[in-house]
Amino acid sequence: METADKFKTSIPRDTLGRALRDLRISVTDQCNLRCGYCMPEKVFGPNHVFLQKEEILTFEEIILVAEAFACCGGKKIRLTGGEPLLRPNLPELVRSLRAIGGIKEIALTTNGLLLPKHAAELKAAGLDRVTLSLDSLDEKTFRRMSGRDVPVQKALEGIRCAEEAGLTIKVNAVIIRHQNEDQVLQLAEHFRGTAHVLRFIEFMDVGNCNQWTPEKVYTGREILRDLQAHHEFEPIEANHAGEVANRYRYCDGLGEFGIIASVSQPFCGNCNRARLSADGKLFTCLFATSGVSLRDLIRKGGDIIGFLHNHWGKRSDRYSELRGTRATKKVEMSYLGG
Ligand code: GTP
Ligand code: 5AD
Ligand code: SF4
Ligand code: SF4
Repeated sequence: METADKFKTSIPRDTLGRALRDLRISVTDQCNLRCGYCMPEKVFGPNHVFLQKEEILTFEEIILVAEAFACCGGKKIRLTGGEPLLRPNLPELVRSLRAIGGIKEIALTTNGLLLPKHAAELKAAGLDRVTLSLDSLDEKTFRRMSGRDVPVQKALEGIRCAEEAGLTIKVNAVIIRHQNEDQVLQLAEHFRGTAHVLRFIEFMDVGNCNQWTPEKVYTGREILRDLQAHHEFEPIEANHAGEVANRYRYCDGLGEFGIIASVSQPFCGNCNRARLSADGKLFTCLFATSGVSLRDLIRKGGDIIGFLHNHWGKRSDRYSELRGTRATKKVEMSYLGG
């Protein structure tokens, strides 16, 4: 029996019993912003060497991996970057992913700046959801945190266009002590009463260059305290096992928000996510030091399903639970995919 047949339809499980459910595909390592927590300008300035075109997986190659993932029982695909909308013809990729049986949901993580141009076409191609990054409504703070001279209005315009196109919207805000903790309430009030789900994210020590220190983490608990002073809300059930956000509903019915407390309350126990970098390496943890290349295997016509089973089967990652006990050189999130 061919390896692919042997594994077909069985779900890979890692050494801790966690299933592979969610594939995050980075389509480019480039971005049009320079958020200090992700791609600080002093590291990702004019001399930074990004991936070359021939190193990057083609859409056809990405589809082969996505098909293998779906054969392994994978349900959810997220397109990420860098900024994925910098990759030309992205709707074409979305259309092909949509045609794969078994894939229930396709989402996109974006800073939103290019959504006015692409939202309608992405929706028509079959995109279900977008997650936009927005750390501040205050002009000065937005420009400082995004590292580029872009008005916050541009990001808000992206949200408006996603809304008009009929995409389901989540908004991610990374909260960093002494940078934007004052935005917790501002952002909450801006999105209260809309259908968009705002999620506050603790600043993580991902990569090596964002000057992370434990003191800069504005914790989920502090965020809840700030909100409690002004609003009544209660915890609600997760939408699915492995959801990274703790969800809360406003008691007056004006919607929900979430807290992603990956530093103070790690959620490795349910982690069902694999990440494919733009150059075709598979990573089984956001904090990995290295990935394994699928690109050569794909280009040789090898058995991707067997590879996913074997590789995922050996997985024991739980970085966030071990944080502090390991000093490793990690890959950057802008390369690996969020
Ligand atoms: P939804 O299905 O919309 O809830 O998306 P998601 O849960 O995949 O969330 P999203 O991709 O928007 O991730 C939000 C943030 O959570 C990321 O930007 C990270 O900061 C954090 N995050 C997501 N996945 C992981 C993970 O596997 N490990 C850790 N430590 N953090 C993660
Ligand atoms: N800590 C927390 N979240 C981060 N992101 C990027 N870098 C970090 C970090 N250091 C998240 C942002 C953005 C997504 C692409 O990645 O939330 O929305
Ligand atoms: Fe770009 Fe997103 Fe990283 Fe900001 S967080 S630099 S928008 S990839
Ligand atoms: Fe998953 Fe690694 Fe994040 Fe833990 S730290 S939730 S294992 S990606």
